[in-house]
Amino acid sequence: MCGIFGFVAPQPLSAELVVEALRTLEYRGYDSWGIAYTVGEPGRDELVVHKRAGRIPLSLPPAGLTTIALGHTRWATHGSVTDQNAHPHLDCTGTLALVHNGIVENYRALRASLERAGHRFQSHTDSEVFAHLLEEILKKAPSAGPNGTAMQDGRWLVDAVRHAFAQVRGLNAFIVLHRPSRQLIAVKSTSPLVVGLGPRGVFVSSDAVALVGHAHRIHYMTDDEIVVLAEDGPRFFDRCTGAPRSPRWEHLSLRPADTSLGGYPHYLIKEIHEQPRVIERILRDRLDGARQLAEFIRRSYGTFLVGCGTAGYAALCGSYLFSRIARRHVNAVIASEFKYQEHFLTDRSLVIALSQSGETVDVIEAVQAAKRRGATVAALVNVTGSTVDRLADFTVPLSAGPEQSVLSTKAYTAKLAVLLLTAHILNGSEHVGLDVLWRAVDGMQQALAPATLDRIRAIADRLVRAEHCYVIGRGLSYPTALEAALKIKEATYIHAEGFAGGELKHGVIALIEEGSPCIVFSPLDETRPDILSGAMEVRSRGAWVVGISPEPDDAFHLHVPIADVGDASPLVAIVPAQLLAYELAIRRGLDPDKPRNLAKSVTVK
Ligand code: AGP
Repeated sequence: MCGIFGFVAPQPLSAELVVEALRTLEYRGYDSWGIAYTVGEPGRDELVVHKRAGRIPLSLPPAGLTTIALGHTRWATHGSVTDQNAHPHLDCTGTLALVHNGIVENYRALRASLERAGHRFQSHTDSEVFAHLLEEILKKAPSAGPNGTAMQDGRWLVDAVRHAFAQVRGLNAFIVLHRPSRQLIAVKSTSPLVVGLGPRGVFVSSDAVALVGHAHRIHYMTDDEIVVLAEDGPRFFDRCTGAPRSPRWEHLSLRPADTSLGGYPHYLIKEIHEQPRVIERILRDRLDGARQLAEFIRRSYGTFLVGCGTAGYAALCGSYLFSRIARRHVNAVIASEFKYQEHFLTDRSLVIALSQSGETVDVIEAVQAAKRRGATVAALVNVTGSTVDRLADFTVPLSAGPEQSVLSTKAYTAKLAVLLLTAHILNGSEHVGLDVLWRAVDGMQQALAPATLDRIRAIADRLVRAEHCYVIGRGLSYPTALEAALKIKEATYIHAEGFAGGELKHGVIALIEEGSPCIVFSPLDETRPDILSGAMEVRSRGAWVVGISPEPDDAFHLHVPIADVGDASPLVAIVPAQLLAYELAIRRGLDPDKPRNLAKSVTVK
């Protein structure tokens, strides 16, 4: 996925405003970045383009003043990471500049046709085709209506973009700068775009977080509209008919404190520490949502939890929670595999989509497949207005606040809290669910205390040069083992693998060598005897064993004590693993917020 941003202002603003917005959007991809803006008077102006491979430098030479600008931060899909493949991309005449998030799936055919028509491409990306396609259509379009009126309301530009967009296939969002009319035009299909209105101008962004400090009101664009941003404000049109339409403005609730580091060195450690407050907020504000979700489950015949990565592990943990608390069979399916198992969906099925961003393409496709089969769709998402949020019949907002580290932490424990509470409501033991989650809040606070951190740092010191790390757990702790391993591998590039404790002797134990680090999750539940014998088996073969458990044991070389919080143990047990991932990343000189090759949300397949 990529981050795109643009503004049009009645009075000149510094183009650095776009660079700062791109820094906020860098979590969406950071292979390269670029901005474009106009300088000079209308009719005699020129387009300034600055784009580079690599991350946005901490300091940049001052940028010019302008009334129109756009920018892009890239996660490369087509075209290697080079300056010329960085966005923005121009048409042949330098009249248009565009930024793109998504994949133009039919770009090869379009490019071949445009090259035959004489267009000269500067990059190897799929995105650039849209600039030349629009240029080709504009060549044949009336340049303006009578007295230039169409020029002002952008209608002729709308028609050109409508026709160009109708020719591209895939999930895409474009922002195009048209230099002569000094207008931006934005259009999308599935990939997100939010329009913001503020005292200094009108803005458009992949994510509302980049509108903080600029816009008071926002509108989440839908797939059937196009917006023209001009100095006198935005105009919305129907993407199919070109007819004017009205946006649905809402207040931008995010504040600068929500998106700043708040004194922490990285977003990852900030968001790890925010978790207790997030769970408190869920316990205060999301009880009704959990009750409604329980009712949806009660009425369904066949419930499926779907998600990817961390959200997929939350789904797996949910299946254990519904089994042991509510005696309810709930299927957990990795979203990218869901379409290979959708055959048994009926109109009585319930699909619960778990997604922090609400933009993960595999989750979107699973939701679309569910809707095609008449199933009811519920969602646990953190980004309100996201695609999954808008596709769902019912959403329980996670309200975890912006999660800006690529690594998901607070959204994970927030999902677990909602699922555990829902399971207890389904079981008629709501008060038990509330009580155990309040205990988990205290347990998370304890896990964040200096005493625990000292032990985590001792482990990090020992593992800093490790190449492999094994993580085991049983029952409720099996998803925790998978999630812990994902945190470690994402943040540190150590080959960390999570296993069901019972799988050790079915091959995994062959990997154990002298000093192999093995992290064992051992809550005081029915899994303890067996997971401890597994721990002893790896220890007897040379492994260096770390036990994350309320109680010590001879199997552990190093014990990380955590609170005993019963079925809520996954919320507490994951915190030391999150901290370990962070501490290891720092020791290995890595950026814990932006690991290589990754992006915050995988919006392309
Ligand atoms: C989690 O740390 C990873 N960044 C990744 O696995 C993530 O959980 C996954 O891509 C799903 O993202 P989503 O929750 O936004 O759908």
